[in-house]
This record gives sequence, C-alpha cells and structure tokens, in this order.
Amino acid sequence: MKLLNNLAASSRQRVDSGLESLLQQAGPDARLQEALSYSLLNGGKRLRPLLVYATAQALGADAEVGDAPAMAVELIHAYSLVHDDLPAMDDDDLRRGRPTCHKAFDEATAILAGDALQTLAFQVLAGSQHPAALDMLASLAQASGPQGMVGGQMLDLQAEGQALTLPQLETLHRHKTGALIRCAVRLGGLAAGADQATLDRLDAYASALGLAFQVQDDLLDVKGDAATLGKNTGADALHHKATYPGLLGLTGAEQKAQDLIREAKASLEPLEGDWTFLLELADWCIERDH
Ligand code: IPE
Ligand code: IPE
Ligand code: MG
Ligand code: MG
Ligand code: MG
Repeated sequence: MKLLNNLAASSRQRVDSGLESLLQQAGPDARLQEALSYSLLNGGKRLRPLLVYATAQALGADAEVGDAPAMAVELIHAYSLVHDDLPAMDDDDLRRGRPTCHKAFDEATAILAGDALQTLAFQVLAGSQHPAALDMLASLAQASGPQGMVGGQMLDLQAEGQALTLPQLETLHRHKTGALIRCAVRLGGLAAGADQATLDRLDAYASALGLAFQVQDDLLDVKGDAATLGKNTGADALHHKATYPGLLGLTGAEQKAQDLIREAKASLEPLEGDWTFLLELADWCIERDH
C-alpha cells in the first residue's frame, strides 16, 4: 500500500492547504472562526477527499480538478460530525482525539459551526468554475440532505432502542454514511469528465464501499481502542444504536464487511485503466483500526 499511502499524503496536503486558506476568509467573528478551524483542521483520515482524488486520477485527470470537490465533501463530512456529536444526537465528548466542538466551545457555537461548514462546502464548489460544477452541486446536495446523510441520521436516531431488520439497518447505513462516500467517488468521476457507464460502475464500487465503511465503524465501536480511534468506544451500546455487530454479532458483521469489499472490488473489474488505488483503499477500509 506504499503508493496509496503516498497518494493519501499528497491528497491530505492539497485538501488541508485549500481548507486552511478558505477559513482565512470565513467571516467577522473570531470565535466562530476558531470553532471552524478546530472542527476542520484537526486531522481526520480525509477518506472522502482521497476518494475524489484517487478516482479522478485513475481516470487521467490532473490533481487540481479534484481540489474543490475534495474540499466540499470534507466540509460536509466535518459538519456532519460536529452535529452528530451534539447532546441532542449522539452526545459524544471526544472526536479526533480532542473534546468535541460543543465541549470545547458551547452548543450554540457548535450548531452554527456545523451550519457554516455546510454552506462553505457549496460556496467552494460553486466557485470552482469546473464545467461539471452544477452536476457536482446537485450530487453533493442530494447526498447530504434528506435523501442522503441527513435522512440517514434521522433513521439512526429513530432506531435507538428499536429492533431493526437487516434491510432496515442497511437502508439506515447506506444513507447516513454510504451516501457521502458514494458522492465522493462520483465527484471524482465528474471532475475527470467520466461518461455515464463509468460513473455507474464507480457507483457500484462506492455503494458497497460506503456500507462496508460504516459496518467497520460499528465494529470499531465494539472492539477498537479509544486512543487509536480518537473517539469513545462503546458509545453505540450506550445509546442502544442499531448496528451490524448488534444484529449479526461480531463474526457476522466482519463477514458482511468482507463480502461488501469483495463486491466493491469486483465492480471495478470491467473498467479499463489502473484502479490500484481504489482496490487498495477498499482493503484498507476493513483493515483499518481507526
Ligand atoms: C466517521 O467518519 C463517521 C462516519 C461517517 C462513519 P470517519 O471515520 O471518516 O471520520 P474521520 O474523518 O476520520 O474523523
Ligand atoms: C455517523 O455515524 C454518521 C454521520 C453522518 C456523522 P456514527 O454516529 O456512528 O459516527 P461516529 O462513530 O460518531 O464517528
Ligand atoms: Mg451518529
Ligand atoms: Mg456518533
Ligand atoms: Mg460510529
């Protein structure tokens, strides 16, 4: 995975420097500004930006075309985490190894910081002047809103303490986490000018990957290490969340994640080109410990 690690490092560097300059012009209030930097420039695996760059690059595009979509999708992700941790939602006090935004600041600031991160995502993408910018904006809006992440977060909250069926849990996970991961791959494809058939193949890959990523997130909540994860473990059980290990057991959930990764990788087989990065990234998704 040496080449993937190199791409991950260069993607992180590109997206972090873009986000840093974006925040320098973010507005008149110093406290909000501080909360935005705190929640955005604080590590994180930067998986979604990496998916944008890796997809665009595999399709032959220059790294520059990935900059705006990579920033946009990470901004939405960062906002989703700030709101996910709020007392009214998962009520978490640790994120990326530090106190959550509402703990470090206060709840109102965390709500507004989330709002600001969300709108900055669309500002960055709209300003990109890429020929596919409108398509990208529509995709990001759909993946973030009630048909995507927000819809999934609502299902997640309503499922607390409920016994879901496997199809219901799959719908929940595909929305709350899968939608934005699918969107990251689609943005990479759109940035590179991919045709519809290629976008569809990539979507099959991303769809399986996105679900596997949340299955692994659920697994790490049970068997991971809080210091390595940078977030508390056991939080899902505490809140009686609907999870894959909860429904299938640890071994069943691990098996499910492996099957999904096999499915993701198989989806790329008919595509021409060198898909090494996306194939390696799929393996990493279930081998990861944070
Ligand atoms: C955590 O996402 C929340 C989910 C959607 C599963 P990540 O595991 O990508 O979190 P960071 O960005 O690395 O902190
Ligand atoms: C998060 O799922 C999904 C989001 C849209 C943020 P979780 O609630 O399981 O994410 P963590 O475990 O707090 O990172
Ligand atoms: Mg949650
Ligand atoms: Mg949470
Ligand atoms: Mg979780």
